[in-house]
Amino acid sequence: MNRGASATVTPDLNVRADFPILKERTSRGKPLIYLDSAATSQKPQAVIDAIARYYSEYNANIHRGVYEIAARATDAFEEARAKVARFLNAAEPAEIVWTRNATEAINLVAWSWGGANLHAGDIILLTQLEHHSNLVPWQLLAERTGAHLRYIPVDDRGEPILDDLDTLLQGCALVALTHVSNTLGTILPVAEIVARAHSTGAIVLVDGAQAAPHLAVDVRALDADFYALSAHKMLGPTGIGVLYGKRRLLEAMPPFLSGGDMIRSVSYERSTFNELPWKFEAGTSNIADAIAFGTAIDYLEAYGMENVRAHERALLAYAFERLAPLEARGLAIYGPHDVERSSGVVSMNFADIHAHDLASILDTEGVCIRAGHHCTMPLMARLDLAATARASFYIYNDRRDVDALVAGLEKAATIFRIS
Ligand code: ALA
Repeated sequence: MNRGASATVTPDLNVRADFPILKERTSRGKPLIYLDSAATSQKPQAVIDAIARYYSEYNANIHRGVYEIAARATDAFEEARAKVARFLNAAEPAEIVWTRNATEAINLVAWSWGGANLHAGDIILLTQLEHHSNLVPWQLLAERTGAHLRYIPVDDRGEPILDDLDTLLQGCALVALTHVSNTLGTILPVAEIVARAHSTGAIVLVDGAQAAPHLAVDVRALDADFYALSAHKMLGPTGIGVLYGKRRLLEAMPPFLSGGDMIRSVSYERSTFNELPWKFEAGTSNIADAIAFGTAIDYLEAYGMENVRAHERALLAYAFERLAPLEARGLAIYGPHDVERSSGVVSMNFADIHAHDLASILDTEGVCIRAGHHCTMPLMARLDLAATARASFYIYNDRRDVDALVAGLEKAATIFRIS
């Protein structure tokens, strides 16, 4: 791995070599070209090893046993939490709650904070870019409480329009917005929106599922009240995610799920609850994957988040350059189309080829992309699109992957007789 802090990390074969799946071939004998990291990232050997090591060397439940391997498991689990806190620049590990994923983190806030604090007539402000995960929980909360949803609009390129933000914020109790659009790659001006929301008394939840893998996130600099992320999009395992919350807010919130580990005392009549963050962690946690997520964070920190961003900018610039001739032949690219404003995503359609057909043709060449509505059906409707074909990059991709994407698109043009 290139551990240097140079401003531009050129494609580094050693990083690629850390990811065993990238040595695989498809059943057609093609090398695997993985361009779907916005759906889930690949895992370096170190992360895979961390899971195997836990189960083969010190598998034991945490916060319970007094024997050696139980203590070792508890220490590793809590150490991983501390790594997440440091990675996000949280004030303390107690502000990091383990969840299954970003979706569960958002649901935790909707049920716990929302249930206690939202009232009929309150406004929840979202953007038109939101993933269903940061939309449906608020729709259900609005139904339960009588609150109303409002949306920050986007223009035809999917850029948020902030001209009327102050009006939209009137009566607003909560703003919930994505940091990076999973469908278009658009990076949102979160710090500005948080500051304007706070000036009206609203609190802000940021869906960081697509941002935390790609940008250096500082929750205190953003002044986010809540920040949600999923480990599997940032080199970690599936089934483990994080809710960051400011202590003051988490302290005041009632528990979400209940049962073992989240209690302080239980009688037949009533219970009192554990301190942060365990108050929100009922039942046996996903210990192995939390620990392995800590390893993924070690890996990303060694690579350097500034290098992650530099690598993606360079790759995106190369992709835009290589795709330009195809634009003259009917390739439409959605979203910012600007490496400074985008985070490693190219969302596109090619002439009148359906996105799913395009993805299937690319698959025959070993190129993995996602096609569809990307769990953003309202955004698709706003942009008047049925679906897009989305290629998304991460640190293990290089120019050869972009070349394979372009070759696959040219093959599709031949099949569909696009001149
Ligand atoms: N939210 C993930 C994606 O955008 C699954 O593909």
